[in-house]
Amino acid sequence: MHSVYKRFEEEISSLPVETEPFSLYEPIRYTLQLGGKHVRPRLVLLTTKMCESNPDLALPAAKAVELLHVFTLIHDDIMDKADTRRGKLTVAKKWDENIAILSGDALFGIALEQLNEIASIPELSKEQVQGVFSTFLKAVRIVCEGQSLDMSFEDRIDVSKDEYITMIGAKTAALIAASSELGARVAGVSDELITAAYEFGWNIGTAFQIQDDYLDAVGDAQKTGKKVGGDILEGKKTYLTLTALENASAEMKSELLDIIQKDEKSDADVARVIAIYRETGTLDQTEQSIQKYYSVALDNLGKFPDNDARNEIKSLVNQLMQREK
Ligand code: IPE
Ligand code: IPE
Ligand code: MG
Ligand code: MG
Ligand code: MG
Repeated sequence: MHSVYKRFEEEISSLPVETEPFSLYEPIRYTLQLGGKHVRPRLVLLTTKMCESNPDLALPAAKAVELLHVFTLIHDDIMDKADTRRGKLTVAKKWDENIAILSGDALFGIALEQLNEIASIPELSKEQVQGVFSTFLKAVRIVCEGQSLDMSFEDRIDVSKDEYITMIGAKTAALIAASSELGARVAGVSDELITAAYEFGWNIGTAFQIQDDYLDAVGDAQKTGKKVGGDILEGKKTYLTLTALENASAEMKSELLDIIQKDEKSDADVARVIAIYRETGTLDQTEQSIQKYYSVALDNLGKFPDNDARNEIKSLVNQLMQREK
């Protein structure tokens, strides 16, 4: 695993190959060089290995999911009006929004070019290649559905927890689920195991986004590389907001709703919302929910062969459970 992951890192950091036009390719290089955790490509490679196949075969899919992910981040930061990403200025702030739109689009093209390398791997059947492409392309569309719901929820105050789970299942869990599914497809396992890989990734992804919401409110900006309270400023309907609205007394609920509905929120407003999260037991409840989804994911692993790669995936999940960035 170490050698294939090293190859992944080398290949991703040498992209894009082109340099001109500079304002198209430089923002891509800039974002890729900031690294990131590489959760999705690690899942692709480890799942192939756990399914007792050669993870080298999954390298194109691993690169493609990371590139697709970075494309979604560049566009997400426009939609969320974010100033920082991976500890540095977002592409839209360092350059401008048009540059961020176009660099994102080019990155999507690069992701597909990398995925297409899978078509010339002799070990993979035509059906497997088709399965890989349809999984990847469906994930692209579902992420857009999730982002659409995420934005429409900003203008609503009656979002239910079920709607929230549907939204994060699409914007975040779909790509993480697709990552483990792609790993399984490359390995050529049974439909039953492909579904198990998807379910495993979906639970990881759901936990991961609830945790992202948590870290957005009470994380350390030095570690997350993002501004603390960004979701509160944008009126996002996060797991924390919805839980606090459920838990709050009538008085506190109306205070929270007043702040949520303000167009311009002050630093004091953000601090007050975080205090309400604390006082209503929302932070504890959120931590429990994160652990619940991660433990369901660990249970899903029981369907796979007991091997070194499965242990590596378990330790990745354990690292994610404790993540601060
Ligand atoms: C951030 O993803 C966007 C979400 C889906 C929450 P990551 O937390 O995986 O970002 P990087 O790639 O490590 O920067
Ligand atoms: C991210 O959700 C989902 C996608 C990028 C598709 P967020 O908007 O919460 O991600 P961050 O917090 O900006 O990384
Ligand atoms: Mg967003
Ligand atoms: Mg965002
Ligand atoms: Mg977030």
